[in-house]
Amino acid sequence: MCGIVGYVGFQDCPLILLDALKRLEYRGYDSAGIAVIQNGRLLCHRTVGKLINLERLLLTQPVSGHIGIGHTRWATHGAPSEINAHPHVVDKVAVVHNGIIENYVALRQELEDKGTRFSSQTDTEVIAQLIALYLKEGNSFEEAVCNTIARLEGSFALGILCADEPETLIAVRQESPLILGFGEGEYFIASDAPALLPYTKKVHFMNDGEMAVITPTGVTLKDFSGNLLPYEVTEIPWSPLLAEKAGYKHFMQKEIFEQPRAIIDTFRGRIYPNKGEVVFEEFNLSQEEIKEIEKIWIVACGTSWHAGLVGKYMLERLCRIPVEVDLGSEFRYRDPIINKKMLLVLISQSGETADTLAAMREGKRKGAKTLAICNVLGSTIARECDYVIYTHAGPEIGVASTKAFTTQLTVLYLLTLYFAKRLGKLDEMKVKEYLSQLMVLPGKIEKILDDTKSIEELAIKYSKVEDFLYLGRGVYFPIALEGALKLKEISYIHAEAYAAGEMKHGPIALIDENMPVVILAPKGETFEKIRSNMEEVLSRKGRVIALTEPECQEIAAKAEDTIFIPPLENSFLKAILLTVPLQLLAYYIAVFRGTDIDQPRNLAKSVTVE
Ligand code: M6R
Repeated sequence: MCGIVGYVGFQDCPLILLDALKRLEYRGYDSAGIAVIQNGRLLCHRTVGKLINLERLLLTQPVSGHIGIGHTRWATHGAPSEINAHPHVVDKVAVVHNGIIENYVALRQELEDKGTRFSSQTDTEVIAQLIALYLKEGNSFEEAVCNTIARLEGSFALGILCADEPETLIAVRQESPLILGFGEGEYFIASDAPALLPYTKKVHFMNDGEMAVITPTGVTLKDFSGNLLPYEVTEIPWSPLLAEKAGYKHFMQKEIFEQPRAIIDTFRGRIYPNKGEVVFEEFNLSQEEIKEIEKIWIVACGTSWHAGLVGKYMLERLCRIPVEVDLGSEFRYRDPIINKKMLLVLISQSGETADTLAAMREGKRKGAKTLAICNVLGSTIARECDYVIYTHAGPEIGVASTKAFTTQLTVLYLLTLYFAKRLGKLDEMKVKEYLSQLMVLPGKIEKILDDTKSIEELAIKYSKVEDFLYLGRGVYFPIALEGALKLKEISYIHAEAYAAGEMKHGPIALIDENMPVVILAPKGETFEKIRSNMEEVLSRKGRVIALTEPECQEIAAKAEDTIFIPPLENSFLKAILLTVPLQLLAYYIAVFRGTDIDQPRNLAKSVTVE
């Protein structure tokens, strides 16, 4: 979704703004712009499309100044066009906005009735128009902003400049993420931490209802009524290098290859293999409280929802607690039956997904305890939940989620062992065994990553196909869903996933000699069943791409193509392992199709609108 950056300090800022915007590219956007105050004048440049267009414009029409704001826009109100791009400038005011102004139609009408002429179709322009109006009425910059905010309904993170006060940047947060960065004699704002990593790791995560007045001498934090507030500076633990491509062609490729490290970082410090123990610093329910949990709800969107589906298998199987998994966008509209004896687990890489956030608030309102499984420190979901367990994947820049997913599964696995031990469902010996299996997982993933040639060859072979079917059973069904999602997101190939037993109830009609069917067929309790499903596909001449283990040669003998994963006993961990070749297959197919892998069309990394 939209990305906001801003700078106040001693350096010439257009290039800093541009660089910071590039670091937010992964959020998804269709136009971009910056506004800078140069010698007391507000100068604004906006372009449609990628940031390179803005960069080119700035080469031919350079600007210079020590204070500025920048924006990447993901269109919601009004088509992607230069006129609708941010910043929106009205008289001496420039505004960048992330979020949605729900009452903008009424505000626009009111302003138009007073003779205001609008130049864009956006909801954001009402903000710039209102501030300009309040300034004309004799208010100071800060007063004009406060008066405007009081009129707005909806979600808004704002960066605002006013040429009358050429040393002041005002930042506002209400239900849309915004952080303040603290450098030496310079200050920043950004939607997300990766934008600031090369400049500073010291940040304040703004809370809803906060307004920051930023000048070269410091930051004053206030509520919307102008009362002073304290701010809390947090150090972001991510190295700037983690947000670079480091020689890989795409962030997605780098993030796939980072998974062994990310998984280790996620379990490191939380497991005591010799004691058969899992501990979470940030989640410390007593044994009694755990025993009182009647039901676990897992709510998430997209890939994180797939992680939740895998989590259900783990938790129900080993802890014997009923688990229901729901989509963030559905949960709150069906009046879910939820009470204080239930634990609501929200899974979100970004911690800012609007649907998941709304589900969390609904669950809290109904009295449930809330636990976030989240990757982004200080994100809204992480802060608003009663408890948080961070995945330590590091910044995920590629829009298609990869290492976030496998680290979410790692946390769910740890959480399962944590509960199972405290509920007396697993003894120390058994937890030790599960932990030792987890510890070999990163090495097994390395093995897959060490030799991707055969998957690349398969990708060439299938890159021209327009439909794919993915089948899995049990805990491998959500992995099939995730494999299909990866393929469609980045290659734009239509891909569907089914629980293999469900195929005969409809999707089987699709199978003919042109249909590739990816079948997850590792050893284990559902092996015989999935083998039969494979036969059903073969007898209709479907092209089977099987994922299996070296021991299962009978599968390889029948499939058109086979991808072998290293052998592993534990089916939950095998689900994580199987994810990796599916990510690689999707990635290489997209490479051969020449799509925009890190920023696929129409997608945003952090979906902060409903
Ligand atoms: O940040 P979140 O985990 O809450 O995001 C949820 C989905 O938007 C996200 O997983 C999306 O489906 C990805 N593009 C998947 O690759």
